[in-house]
Amino acid sequence: MPTRLGTKIIVFTDIHFTAENRAGRPDPDASLASGIAHVNHYHSDADLVVFSGDLTHHGDAASYAKLKARLADLKLPYHLLIGNHDNRDTFRAAFPDAAGDPNGFVQAVIDLPGARLITLDTLFAPPYDYPAAHAGTLCGARLAWLEDQLATPSAKPTVIIMHHPPHDTGFEAMDSIKLRNGPAFYDALARHAPVRHLVCGHIHRTISGSHRGLPFSIFKSTVGQMPMLFEGTNTAVENDEPAAYGIVFINGDGVLAHTEDYALNPLTTPA
Ligand SMILES: [Fe+2]
Repeated sequence: MPTRLGTKIIVFTDIHFTAENRAGRPDPDASLASGIAHVNHYHSDADLVVFSGDLTHHGDAASYAKLKARLADLKLPYHLLIGNHDNRDTFRAAFPDAAGDPNGFVQAVIDLPGARLITLDTLFAPPYDYPAAHAGTLCGARLAWLEDQLATPSAKPTVIIMHHPPHDTGFEAMDSIKLRNGPAFYDALARHAPVRHLVCGHIHRTISGSHRGLPFSIFKSTVGQMPMLFEGTNTAVENDEPAAYGIVFINGDGVLAHTEDYALNPLTTPA
């Protein structure tokens, strides 16, 4: 049930699980394990934990299996989205119960007691043809499904969660692989009752603002962050700023979005 501040959502994004650790990079499993322990300890009152895409780095079965094993530690319900580093079919094989739309896309409506979440599948694949497939898209079928959901009246505030930001964020490299058809997304929203907030991942950096009147929050990764380099073409550049997750409250008046750099605030008592 909603907390004093409203419906409470924890957001992990870009956890990039790998079967084997990448040289010189943080261990995704260890990072998420400490994040899950942190959430279990400090946010046991949350309504839901959302993982907003790039669940794995290579989209392979072994990485999804490792993630599934780690998620067993989470004492709260969770919901998974996919991103450009994921593989839709391999994800579905690992998580056959994951919610999806009638067309097979990994997108869903989550009707919580105090909020309606709409999660979108922005994976621009198949074909898994990189680097083009690192950009995001909402094809006609996905946009039509979104419009169907928005056309269904809800007395609850609506928040959309998807991996790719549908607008520029200021990082030249990442803006080259944003949602390819952001204007179509915003045009669809404009035909319906207002959406309260948009939550994204993909950038590996805490960013907030608004675009065409819709406020948004983007959260950090658990395994490496985007340096403050606005110019450049390297989409894989990362620094070692600490892992983080987002905390989002949704209530009748609005949305609060916090970010917790949990590696800077380790558990001081046993989880
Ligand atoms: Fe990512």
